[in-house]
Amino acid sequence: MRTVALIPAAGTGSRLGLDRPKAFVEIGGVSLAARSVAAAWASGVIDDVVVIVPAQLVDEVARELPGVTVVAGGAERSDSVRAGLAAAGDADLVLVHDAARALTPPALFTRVVAALIGGAHAVVPGLPVVDTLKTVDNDGRVVDTPDRRVLRAVQTPQGFTAEVLRRAHAGAADATDDAGLVEALGEDVTVVPGEALAFKITTPFDLRMAEYLCDGSTQ
Ligand code: C5P
Repeated sequence: MRTVALIPAAGTGSRLGLDRPKAFVEIGGVSLAARSVAAAWASGVIDDVVVIVPAQLVDEVARELPGVTVVAGGAERSDSVRAGLAAAGDADLVLVHDAARALTPPALFTRVVAALIGGAHAVVPGLPVVDTLKTVDNDGRVVDTPDRRVLRAVQTPQGFTAEVLRRAHAGAADATDDAGLVEALGEDVTVVPGEALAFKITTPFDLRMAEYLCDGSTQ
């Protein structure tokens, strides 16, 4: 059973307001991408790692992250995942993990893989939603208040059998997560408990929060 982790790191990170791609912003001297790769290895359940980066960074990242396959990403996240899948070879299981979720505990990789080995074909970590969420129209008027008890904030790593993920990405569809494409196939997606530390570093506030949580350490 060969398990490959794909780590999309090819986003621009424009919401962070910095001059370099988000995944290559550093906390305590270690980039978000390098932290995500280290978490995948530390889980002990990953055989190979494929990092997907902006085309101009492929050579540099390959030098900085020995032991991982580095490929160029695309315009949308789904394009980047497809580029990673093409480099995943004969994987049986594939995990897709946002480089931007740099503080994810290795145990979350283990939990997702355990659910796949237990028979699930698609697995996402999810946390209960603490805020009340509203659906709004284009004028900012509230249309609906979904019952938050049935909502989950979904994270990565998301895990799939390679067969299901390849089928989900066979078209050119885009989605904010891979499970969305799997749902569109009519396949079941299983939720396992997420981790607060798996939050996605998206805004300047998130980056400050991550720096605070790491306390300047390189661990
Ligand atoms: O933009 P968003 O925060 O949803 O991106 C999630 C992850 O997908 C990030 O780690 C980002 O680098 C990656 N991504 C990518 N290729 C893109 C867009 C995003 O690899 N074209």
